[in-house]
Amino acid sequence: MKSRWADAGDSDASDDGGRGPQGGGARGDRAKAQAPRSKRRRGPSADAGASDGTASDQAAHMGDVRDGSPAGTPEPAASAATAVAAAQPVQRPPPLVPFIRPCRSVDNYEKLNRIEEGSYGIVYRARDRATGEIVALKKLKLQNETNGFPVTTLREIHTLLMAKHPHIVDVREIVVTPSLSGIFIVMEYLDHDLKSLMEDMPSPFLLSEIKTLMHQLLSAVASLHRNWIIHRDLKTSNLLMNNRGRIKVADFGLARRYGSPLGPITQLVVTLWYRAPELLLGATTYTTAIDMWSVGCIFGELVNKEPLLPGRGELDQLSRIFKLLGTPSEATWPGFMDLPLAKTVHFKQLPANNLRTTFPYLPEDGLDLMAKLLTYDPQQRITAEEALRHPFFTNNPLPKNPDLFPSFPSKAAGERRHKIPVPEAPHAHQDLPAGSLFDNQPAENGAGFRLRV
Ligand SMILES: Nc1ncnc2c1ncn2[C@@H]1O[C@H](COP(=O)(O)OP(=O)(O)O)[C@@H](O)[C@H]1O
Ligand SMILES: [Mg+2]
Repeated sequence: MKSRWADAGDSDASDDGGRGPQGGGARGDRAKAQAPRSKRRRGPSADAGASDGTASDQAAHMGDVRDGSPAGTPEPAASAATAVAAAQPVQRPPPLVPFIRPCRSVDNYEKLNRIEEGSYGIVYRARDRATGEIVALKKLKLQNETNGFPVTTLREIHTLLMAKHPHIVDVREIVVTPSLSGIFIVMEYLDHDLKSLMEDMPSPFLLSEIKTLMHQLLSAVASLHRNWIIHRDLKTSNLLMNNRGRIKVADFGLARRYGSPLGPITQLVVTLWYRAPELLLGATTYTTAIDMWSVGCIFGELVNKEPLLPGRGELDQLSRIFKLLGTPSEATWPGFMDLPLAKTVHFKQLPANNLRTTFPYLPEDGLDLMAKLLTYDPQQRITAEEALRHPFFTNNPLPKNPDLFPSFPSKAAGERRHKIPVPEAPHAHQDLPAGSLFDNQPAENGAGFRLRV
């Protein structure tokens, strides 16, 4: 029987790239990483918000991948030896690395409808044939690869499997088409992404609702950062939301683990509107603070129900940032003038901060948090842990109980979504050299400053 998924994403029918089932390096050996849920690492804050029911949802899934697993850890037999062992706690390494085992076939799922086609994959709504459960399948795009299994795909799978948290989308397994030409991430299904949802909402979220959503987002980001993961593409279309007031961070296509010391890593990350100024100015090393800038942009979007800094190009993006926050200087951002593009661009001195006029109804505590997230100097920018302790979340009005959130009709469950014209994240494998920032946009005139020649 021909797999109904064989034609998944007709437009990318050449996924295979002309390579047979044995081609493509790691793809040929069928050994794919899949984490038994019971063995996956939970971040230290994995329990934060567990009372929302997601943790038990997750536990309910455990059986379907653990049962019958040859890789499963056998239960220790009760014996005198174990009694002794119990007295001296056994030092087991943390279950960091998912066990290697064959992936199941995608035919275990029935395709229902296509939800969205993004930059890295096509996402479908599907039904688990065994349990009837509705899930989301993201088909990973592989067609441009000539050097075996794409590292971006490996990163996406790896970081998602590592990053277990009630507010990070839950991955059930990785499945493949019989010919191995298609690889899918099977995730829990959520009714909305925050971007599409806000476009359809007649009015913005209430302040108490924004507090709930921001707190959930910050708890997920804090967990990622504690686990040495930078997401690198936080934006409203990568935040999924269910009809019970819970958001979950998704799309780990650009995420990566980092270590100390930080080597030079690609600048070309984060969708333009959410991109931190240090990246726009050509910094070759960066920290988790780039995610915090994106969180600030998301906060602004939640408050005003429109993107905060919708730049048309990198120069325009910088210009919009400077208009909102004032032009940075060595005083406000020590080291600013050492950034590669700070030397080549002449900046008009724009007066300080327009945050209050941009958010006229946001209370002082909210404005303070916004300013701390949108701080120029990455070293002074607030961390996720610090932001979680900000009085914004404990002052009145208090965050709304997620169960009291209104529910919204789900576009994802019905027809295919219309593509919204938002810029996409840069492709992770495109490592551009420093200084290429303004290539291909000679006609762009940033308000307030010009390129030095
Ligand atoms: N688990 C899911 N449940 C429901 N919709 C999803 C899910 N994952 C992704 N989507 C939808 O698909 C879109 C694209 O998915 P994403 O993982 O962001 O892919 P891309 O890397 O192509 O941006 C999301 O913006 C969202 O609308
Ligand atoms: Mg995305």
